[in-house]
Amino acid sequence: MTLQSENKVPVITVDGPSGSGKGTICRLLSQRLGWSLLDSGALYRLTALAAAHHGVPMDDVEALQVIAAHLDVRFVASDQNSEGMILLEGEDVTHAIRAEQVGNDASKVASLGPVREALLQRQRDFAIAPGLIGDGRDMGTVVFPDANLKIYLDASAEVRADRRYKQLIDKGLSASLEDILRDIRARDDRDMNRAVAPLCPADDAIILDSTAMTIDEVLNRVLEEARHKGLR
Ligand code: DC
Repeated sequence: MTLQSENKVPVITVDGPSGSGKGTICRLLSQRLGWSLLDSGALYRLTALAAAHHGVPMDDVEALQVIAAHLDVRFVASDQNSEGMILLEGEDVTHAIRAEQVGNDASKVASLGPVREALLQRQRDFAIAPGLIGDGRDMGTVVFPDANLKIYLDASAEVRADRRYKQLIDKGLSASLEDILRDIRARDDRDMNRAVAPLCPADDAIILDSTAMTIDEVLNRVLEEARHKGLR
């Protein structure tokens, strides 16, 4: 083993489509292991939101690249049970970045190579001791190709749409299951078929289909795999 690999910060990557449960699993993993969390989707959402604030269209590659490279963002950690706060140019956008429109715009800016390139090092900088959980679409394939454990979390589009629908209804918001399913399919199509860093499992990823699994079952399975790898 080289000195470099001995000193390397351990990384677990969790990739998968929207609504597969990645976000929840990654937050629980980071709490259980006491490791940092990279919500890489938030960086694409923040880029899209910053662009909207500055009146930049979602296909202006040059301007979007500049925005991504200079994103003025602070992730403010909070207690164990909440998700923390996200400040964009000093403004609290924790909830604003979760809007469907921002998700759709994020999917568009994420298809642009120069934007992805501009966010690459920022993502790698999240890897600090004692370890990192990377949540996204290309964590195991592009951002952390040497990750110690790679998970690809999948679920049927119908189940993912249903989960999203229930989340919105639970929050007291109105929602249409049909519209959500259509949006999920469109986003899958864009994320999986784009030319740069398309969503796909890394060759060495463990594929978990969460369609018929509870959150606890998925979490325990990932923790078991982490134990096998000597990560806990
Ligand atoms: O996970 P999310 O819904 O917050 O991600 C928002 C969009 O960003 C999603 O459509 C795909 C894109 N994304 C990406 O291309 N690569 C990542 N590592 C994370 C997200």
